[in-house]
Order: sequence, then structure tokens, then C-alpha cells
Amino acid sequence: MDATPTTSTRGSWNSKIGFILAAAGSAVGLGNIWKFPFEVADGGGGAFVLIYLVCCFLLCFPVMVTEIAIGRRAHKNAVGAFEALGYRNWRFVGLLGVTSGVLILSFYNVVAAWALGYFVELAGGHFSIGSEFGTFITDVVKIGLYAALFMVLTAGIVSGGISSGIERASKLLMPTLLVIILGLVLYGLTLPHAAEGLRFYLIPDFSEVTLEVVYNALGQAFFSLSLGMGALITYGSYLSKRENIIESAALITLTDVGIAFTAGLLMFPLVAFLNAGDMTDVQGGAGLIFVTLPGAFESMGPGLGAFVGATFFLLLSFAALTSTVSLLEVPTSFVIDEFNVPRRRAAIGIAVLVFLIGIPSLLSNGASPFFTNFVTYFGSDTPNTFMDLVEHLSSDTFLPLGGFLIVVFAAYVWKTENLSEELAQGAPGFRGSALERFIHVCVAYVCPVLLGIIFVLTVLNRFFGVSVF
Ligand code: TRP
Repeated sequence: MDATPTTSTRGSWNSKIGFILAAAGSAVGLGNIWKFPFEVADGGGGAFVLIYLVCCFLLCFPVMVTEIAIGRRAHKNAVGAFEALGYRNWRFVGLLGVTSGVLILSFYNVVAAWALGYFVELAGGHFSIGSEFGTFITDVVKIGLYAALFMVLTAGIVSGGISSGIERASKLLMPTLLVIILGLVLYGLTLPHAAEGLRFYLIPDFSEVTLEVVYNALGQAFFSLSLGMGALITYGSYLSKRENIIESAALITLTDVGIAFTAGLLMFPLVAFLNAGDMTDVQGGAGLIFVTLPGAFESMGPGLGAFVGATFFLLLSFAALTSTVSLLEVPTSFVIDEFNVPRRRAAIGIAVLVFLIGIPSLLSNGASPFFTNFVTYFGSDTPNTFMDLVEHLSSDTFLPLGGFLIVVFAAYVWKTENLSEELAQGAPGFRGSALERFIHVCVAYVCPVLLGIIFVLTVLNRFFGVSVF
């Protein structure tokens, strides 16, 4: 039935920890460092952290084990997996995933290029870079070069294959990332006003918890865990039957949440230090990372500021790199399996394509008025950039849709019985356990309903200006 010669030569993870680090590397990314801390501060501090944890375990964890199980059973890329399980008609879900991966990577790589660029500038002693953010991101030649470099690094790792490329890089990058982030947190805590920063970040305020906050937490958790586009179907396809999927998924989730949480411990003391403890007017997103924080580094003085700043942006670049690797691996694996293209050629070809698709995004932060004011959605009068549009389509819309289709497939087409059978491999005691029932209920009811709601609300809100909250 299946005569592709690649099946026997497909790579595989060398060790359990290798798989966990690679999947955690995919999860830990720009999202953790620039989105999560601010959502916490905005959404009621400790109260948000609790809600986020519930979202992770109720919505994301069941989707994660499902993706890994589908991949491991099928032993195929995100598209071919559906066919290998006997459902050719469902290949479109994988194709949606591959498309999402290419689109997400095209803009994600631009932000990664900013981070890498900041690292290089700060390491070279240019410690006032933060105040030049606006000019920096419109310097398209420079950003283009950093973006090309980042893509070369990503494609280099993916070309190396599963164990000697992705696994090896993750084993180096993830522990380094952990050491850097802990070092920076410890340093940040010694600065004046650190306590005010922590208070702003963590004191629970349940009055700030609205439905909108819960909806944001759901979406953020889903993106952060790299779900909904078959990244974990792909990574799962290289996993041995001996490994315990449930346990691995729990470790991946905990690592992701742990690092996102730690990023906040790093960020807010620095902001408090910069503002002498005044946390009334803290901005989030790109401004926080690329303007406010560099301001804090600048106020540490040239030598120390450049050192701490360079270290921070090295951290951000590492976090982004293990994520771009997983984003590139999804289409690469598809092209290798389905078209019999050698890995190296597939990885490089797709990287070039993604870079080209990313050029309008690169131009859309001020360099080209056309791409900067690209679309105005219904019911709004502020135009969005091309990069915003790609992000709204891929990460905000396609991922929940993909996740919805994956759980519906698993529960009603492939059937929970088969899911359980795969999960039980390497997990003695799973059959008949309360955990098995929990996963069945989530995959068949909780996840489709929540993902369906996220999808509909996001489309209404983003593209039609209809605000439900
Ligand atoms: N999880 C990454 C982040 O938080 C982004 C990411 C990498 C991703 N690979 C993915 C998101 C696959 C969805 C699917 O930055």
C-alpha cells in the first residue's frame, strides 16, 4: 500500500529527553517571552496564572497527546498521517497545518531577526539601540540580512535530520536558555524596585478576570504549546513506541509554562528598575521587549548594560530558534515523505520560499506604506499591516481551526479507542484509568467546543469588528 522508501530511513529521536527538549523547544518561543508576562500583568496577575494552568491542562494537554499519538501511530508527516491511518479525505487538515506553518514562520522569522539584530548590536557595544527601534526595523537591508541569517541557522539545523540536527541543537540550546534566564532573573532581583515589579506581575486580582481574559488565556496557551498545525504530529512520528506519551506531554507543558512564568520574573523587575518602581504605564508586546527593556539596559551604563542586554537578546534568539526549527520541520517532513525529496534539499528549498513570503512582512513595519497600511477590516478604521494580517490568519484563525479538526478527527473518525490504544503503548496502567476517561471526555467534548468557540469569536472579532465581550 505504502511504497515510499523514506519510511524505513525516517529519522527518530535518540532519547526520551531529546524528544522532550525538542518539543519543549518548539513550545518555548517568542510567545512565552513577549506575550505571556504581559497577559499575566494585564489579566489579574496570579489569577491569570491559575487560569492559564487550567487552560493548559484542560484544553492543550489533551490536544497535545492526541497530536503525538496520531503522529506516532501513522509514522508520517502531518499530511500523510491522516492517509496512513486510512482517511485520505482528511489530508486537508494536514495541508492546512503545513500552510499555517509556512505563514507563521514567514512573520515569526522577522521578529526573530529583530532579536538577533539586537543581540549583535548590543554585543558590539551599541547599547542605546532601544531608542532607535523605529529606525532599526525600517532598515530593510539590515533586517533582511538578519532574517536571512536566521533562516540559514534554522535550515542548517533541520537539514541535519532528527537526532543529529534537531535533537542535538535542542540539547544544547534548551539548557543554555535555562541557565541564561535563571541568571538574568537572579540579577534582576538584585536591582532596586524589584519588589514593585514582582507585585505588579503576581498579586492576584480576581476582579480583572473577565471572559475576555479567559479567552485570551486559551488562545495564548494553544499557540504557546505549538498546537493545531501538526507540529507535534510530525515530532511524534519520530518517537519510539517505548516512550510514554502522557508523561512526555506533561513534561513539555510544564516546561513551557515554567519558562513563560520565569520570563515574567525577569521582565518586570527590570521594568520597575527603569521606572523607579512606577508600574502605572507599562506597555506590552514589541514595545516592551524592544524599547522598554533596552531602556533598562541602557540605564545600567555602557559596559554592564550592553552585556546584560546582549545576554537577554541571545536568550530571545535561542528561544526563537528552537521554534523556527519546528515550524520549518513540518513542511520539510511533508515534502520529504510525500515527494521523496532529500531532507537537505527540502529544508533549504522551503526556507528560501518562506524567506520570500516573509518579505512583505519585513516591509510592513514602516518601510513600505503599501504593506504598512495593508488592510482595513470591516467595522474598523485603523489599517493593519501585512504582517498583522498574516498573523491574524495563521496563528489566530488557522491554529484553532486546525486543532478543532484534529480533535474531531481523533474522537469521531479515528475513534477514541484507537487513540487509547496508541497512548497505552509505553504507558502501562493507562487503560481503564481515570486519566483515560479524562482524555476521552476532553478530546470528544471539551476541546472541540472550546476550540470551536475560540475560532468563531476570533473570526468575528478580527475580521468583522464584532466584539462579543
Ligand atoms: N510556540 C512558539 C511560541 O510560543 C511558536 C511556535 C513554534 C508554534 N512552532 C509552532 C506555534 C507550531 C504553533 C504551532 O513562540
